[in-house]
Amino acid sequence: MERTYIKDLKENIGKEVSISGWIDVRRDHGKLIFIDIRDMSGKVQTVALPSNKDAHEVAGQVRPEWVVRATGIVNKRPDKMVAKNELNGEIELELKKMEVLNEAQTPPLDVRGDGMDIGEETRLKYRYLDLRRPRMQKNIRNRFKATQFVRNWFANEGFTEIETPNMSATTPEGSRDFVVPSRLENGKFYSLPQSPQQYKQLLMAAGFEKYFQLARCFRDEDTRGDRQPEFIQMDLEMSFVTAEDVIAINERALIDLVKNIYPEKKIQQIPFPRITYKEAMEKYNSDKPDIREDKNDPNLLAFLWVIDFPFFEKDPESTTGWTFTHNPFSAPKPEHMNDLMEKKNIANILTTQYDIVMNGYEIGGGSIRNHRSEALKKVFEIMGYEEERLMKNFGHMLAALNSGTPPHGGIAWGFDRLIMLLENEPNIREVIAFAKTGEGKDLMMCAPSEIPEKQMRELGIELRKKK
Ligand code: AMO
Repeated sequence: MERTYIKDLKENIGKEVSISGWIDVRRDHGKLIFIDIRDMSGKVQTVALPSNKDAHEVAGQVRPEWVVRATGIVNKRPDKMVAKNELNGEIELELKKMEVLNEAQTPPLDVRGDGMDIGEETRLKYRYLDLRRPRMQKNIRNRFKATQFVRNWFANEGFTEIETPNMSATTPEGSRDFVVPSRLENGKFYSLPQSPQQYKQLLMAAGFEKYFQLARCFRDEDTRGDRQPEFIQMDLEMSFVTAEDVIAINERALIDLVKNIYPEKKIQQIPFPRITYKEAMEKYNSDKPDIREDKNDPNLLAFLWVIDFPFFEKDPESTTGWTFTHNPFSAPKPEHMNDLMEKKNIANILTTQYDIVMNGYEIGGGSIRNHRSEALKKVFEIMGYEEERLMKNFGHMLAALNSGTPPHGGIAWGFDRLIMLLENEPNIREVIAFAKTGEGKDLMMCAPSEIPEKQMRELGIELRKKK
């Protein structure tokens, strides 16, 4: 018999149907055995009557998390048994036949509650079980809804999603790179991108004008609740735009996303308010202030643009004493372009950087870029790059800018963070199917791990002795 999804059972009252799924709970009353079965669409109570010997016998054997196929009649529950607020609270399935498709060992963790009381190491080690809990199913499915919405939204605005490489060369984003050793050229390494920053600018040089990508990014930094070593950016770049254009389209996209996928949420202020970095630090002592009027309201979203960041900051490790604060590819504010070109008043140069903050989290950031090579060169000179190093690392960028690159700018949203906040979750691991621990470990796959000696030899790698 064709499979019926559990959410559709109530349209089949009086009919015989077949469902497939997992044993959720089993309540054995001797004569009557009640079993909740769940599939990806929901849960239903089934009942095995002693009069139906076969089904009753199997129902007596099954245990939580066993996989079954069950055939039965959809019955209306007697009035006093109706559970008002449940998906199938008005019906139950009277079992005619139950077939065990696979047994399950007693699970090492309870998959039914919200899981918040279970040690996270256990949850991550047995993630395939942890993901069965309704909260995680909801988070992952809603994440996909948001992904799909954003894809369609930007496609409708004329953007093209373009994939860029993960095996590449270093791009400075202020963190450490993860590297991949080359077998064909021993001693050389690919870097995993901290972001597609250079590629997306090169796509502007290439004439695509409107690019976006749900891009995987890799950063070797200390993990926190809102950071993972690999994470997803909704990354975007546009040509012939000002900061106002980029801000406006992103504001519209975020509002539409919330209205369509999270209609229960309320946005505190539209248009989103703006604050300069200086004001934010003076008023809130933070460059990502939480400006919610009511912090107890789980459905209140307080978006805020933070602008006018200093371009450079002091760095004792830099030969010139200066490094960038956000993004070396950014343009300064137009009124500071002269200072950049003359390399003076460096501490006072402001960048076109705009950060988007929500409820005290930085959920994105971007800028207008230097599309003239002389200006980009000055940025690297201020940070102490010699001509040789500049050409070696960024020669391709300078050459591209010299080949007719239009003015351009963009942004990247931290997609995991955004979904974490929209789902009212305390950290991004709750919205990532296979997350890593705070120490950057994948406890399920046991990564990172040693590799065989043979592989090390092929890669030309020998480990230094630990001191
Ligand atoms: P930035 O470095 O600010 O900008 O990154 C953009 C956004 O990505 C999120 N984010 C992270 N999320 C999870 N785990 C991490 N380790 C992590 N690091 C960053 C944050 C952040 O705001 N190329 C530029 C964007 C641009 O200028 O267009 C960039 O990567 O929410």
